[in-house]
Amino acid sequence: MPAQTIVPWGLPYAKKVTLSNTWPRHGKVTLKPFTETLTETEWRRFYECFRDPEIAEWNGSRPLKMPLWLFKRVVMGEVSRGDRMGFGILDEKGEWLGTVELYEMTRTEATLGILIGAKNRWGQGYGTDAVKAVLEYAFCTLRLQKVKLRTYKHNLRAQRAFEKAGFRHVPTPPAPTPRFNFGLAPKSEFVPMEITREDWECF
Ligand SMILES: CC(C)(COP(=O)(O)OP(=O)(O)OC[C@H]1O[C@@H](n2cnc3c(N)ncnc32)[C@H](O)[C@@H]1OP(=O)(O)O)[C@@H](O)C(=O)NCCC(=O)NCCS
Repeated sequence: MPAQTIVPWGLPYAKKVTLSNTWPRHGKVTLKPFTETLTETEWRRFYECFRDPEIAEWNGSRPLKMPLWLFKRVVMGEVSRGDRMGFGILDEKGEWLGTVELYEMTRTEATLGILIGAKNRWGQGYGTDAVKAVLEYAFCTLRLQKVKLRTYKHNLRAQRAFEKAGFRHVPTPPAPTPRFNFGLAPKSEFVPMEITREDWECF
């Protein structure tokens, strides 16, 4: 099948976006690997998502302060390191909604992180679809055995989306006493979730 070309709404010049058939997809979303060339609009949305204070808070991080050019350099540096795989989450029309990543990758495991920057699109199933798409990639393409994540105890929307994609809660490992405190949330406020290849195959 040829690659699908569509015209997304919401882009300044109704640019054509080509979605490759080899990119992971599920339901309403397609995942565009960071290793592909991102358009300026995509870079800008990617960057703005990490500058947003509310999203940073949900994510347990601080809003980004660096300029866009440096952000691009950091992302490209991380992409080339090989221990993480990142994707832009594109909707049915090819519009960039956010990012989903597998990081701390080993031969058998990875940790999942996800952010939907378009807040008006929260609660519409995009997050669940993106998690399902990246899990298929993790288990079928990368042949991993387990995918883990950590989220805030009070982030019920995220936990629900993860559960809908097959994740389950697991006991919290004892938190080591931190040597430094950079003002981020203590570990006890996070809940761990995971999905194994067997869980995923039976889900
Ligand atoms: C977390 C996130 C990725 C989820 O994506 P999403 O597209 O909003 O999620 P979905 O629509 O697929 O699923 C959300 C589910 O949570 C439910 N939900 C929403 N708010 C809720 C709440 N306060 N309590 C319980 N469930 C809630 C929704 O009803 C939906 O479940 P349903 O389909 O059974 O009705 C997205 O909201 C986001 O990026 N949030 C900000 C950043 C963040 O929290 N990232 C996760 C860090 S680990």
